[in-house]
Amino acid sequence: MGKRILILNGPNLNLVGERQKDLYGEVSLADVNNHCGKLAEEFGLEVRFEQSNHEGALIDYIHEARTYAHGIIINAGAYSHTSIATMDALESFVGVVLEVHISNVFKRQDFRRQSYMSLRADGVIAGFGVEGYELALRRMSSLLT
Ligand code: DQA
Repeated sequence: MGKRILILNGPNLNLVGERQKDLYGEVSLADVNNHCGKLAEEFGLEVRFEQSNHEGALIDYIHEARTYAHGIIINAGAYSHTSIATMDALESFVGVVLEVHISNVFKRQDFRRQSYMSLRADGVIAGFGVEGYELALRRMSSLLT
């Protein structure tokens, strides 16, 4: 049985491909997930996808991942910059945590430069567009297999 991972997206990321296309591109989250699903299969990883606009739901998904997942790829959206509770949930997870931001958060407002998730993440990818998810998956595969 392959190693299991969770790809978790936070608020507004359900609108990727529709909102602020200059920043987030034109590809939908469903297409990104579809692509990552195929890639994960090639890597022999089992992947689960979740997205929520609610902080508590993201925390619940992370707690659930404690029971089945070896790694989490997370884009917590704006909660990256605000949510100590989500960081605490990640701290309770013992596997690999990789953080993704579609846009280059360092090239934007100052408040986006700090991510609570980064205090737990084993690696961070930012500014590679939705390709960042694929890169994170590749890294996850090399760390887990
Ligand atoms: C984001 C960057 C965040 O600052 C922003 O709030 C998002 C998306 C990104 O993927 O670039 O919602 O996480």
